[in-house]
Amino acid sequence: MAPNYSVKDLIPLTGSDAKIPRIGYGVYKSTDCRAAVLTALSMGYRHIDTAQFYKNEAEVGEAIKISGISRKEIYVVTKIQYPVENSVEKTLESIRESVQRIDPGEEDRKGYVDLFLVHTPASGREGREVLWRALELLKMEGGTVDIGVSNYGIEHLFQMETYTSINPVCNQIEVHPFCQQREVIDLCKSKGIAITAYAPIARNTRSENPTLVTIGEKHGRHPTQVMIKWSLQKGYFPLPKSDNPDRMRANMDMDGWELTEEEMTEIERLDEGQGGAVCPYPLNCP
Ligand SMILES: NC(=O)c1ccc[n+]([C@@H]2O[C@H](COP(=O)([O-])OP(=O)(O)OC[C@H]3O[C@@H](n4cnc5c(N)ncnc54)[C@H](OP(=O)(O)O)[C@@H]3O)[C@@H](O)[C@H]2O)c1
Repeated sequence: MAPNYSVKDLIPLTGSDAKIPRIGYGVYKSTDCRAAVLTALSMGYRHIDTAQFYKNEAEVGEAIKISGISRKEIYVVTKIQYPVENSVEKTLESIRESVQRIDPGEEDRKGYVDLFLVHTPASGREGREVLWRALELLKMEGGTVDIGVSNYGIEHLFQMETYTSINPVCNQIEVHPFCQQREVIDLCKSKGIAITAYAPIARNTRSENPTLVTIGEKHGRHPTQVMIKWSLQKGYFPLPKSDNPDRMRANMDMDGWELTEEEMTEIERLDEGQGGAVCPYPLNCP
């Protein structure tokens, strides 16, 4: 029998008491973010991925409030890109504001996010340390349950060992069949760092690929669904984004079917390394 891959499955994170819903919903370039998140929540999505850079944290927060779903049932992720004036205190202020926008809290409950990430390693060694110290402080004061990183390559992860007192629970990177990121993922696995997979359907640019089309036909599924299923069977947490309700539904229709070992192997052969990235990111920037 095919294993259960429901959008509401909760998977434990190493180094945390929290559990993360297996499939996320990304809101980068969402055209009407508040409406889209409301639709996603009504369909069953429980993991929303936003960022300061997307300029829609407040809309995510409004949608969560209006949905009437208990805050603790929804897993919200946001990110900060650069430190503020290289100051831990000012950076902490900025990330507190993000929390305020997403979840201002209630009379008897302090607001929080579930996961706060360093969006990119692009601020350099010193900047990354400032960002991490601010995130550690936010976690200690209860503004976020967990902290993690995004777009971090091998060197950035090793370097973190010199300044972290709290380990990252996840590394959010571009992963899909054409950009499989094997080396950095192997390192993350060895360190107990979960992989959240952004652009999991390569922004729908590879849906004509004959291997994916053939596999999809065997299962009566669209190639993008095959890509999401591959991600899940690899143990990643994919974050597909769609503004379209039919595609949102298709992206979470992962239950009751499974890719065979042979199909997984065929998909492994599609890897094009960094050349296959749709969002080329300097995982090796200094
Ligand atoms: N950490 C980072 O640096 C980073 C970078 C990029 C993205 N992300 C996160 O990851 C999320 C997803 O990545 P992404 O938005 O770049 O790419 P994606 O999810 O791979 O692709 C989104 C694109 O595919 C289309 N689409 C969605 N479902 C489809 C389906 N079933 N069939 C055909 N087309 C479909 C969408 O159009 P419609 O909306 O019209 O359906 C949209 O144009 C983002 O929203 C964001 O939360 C993080």
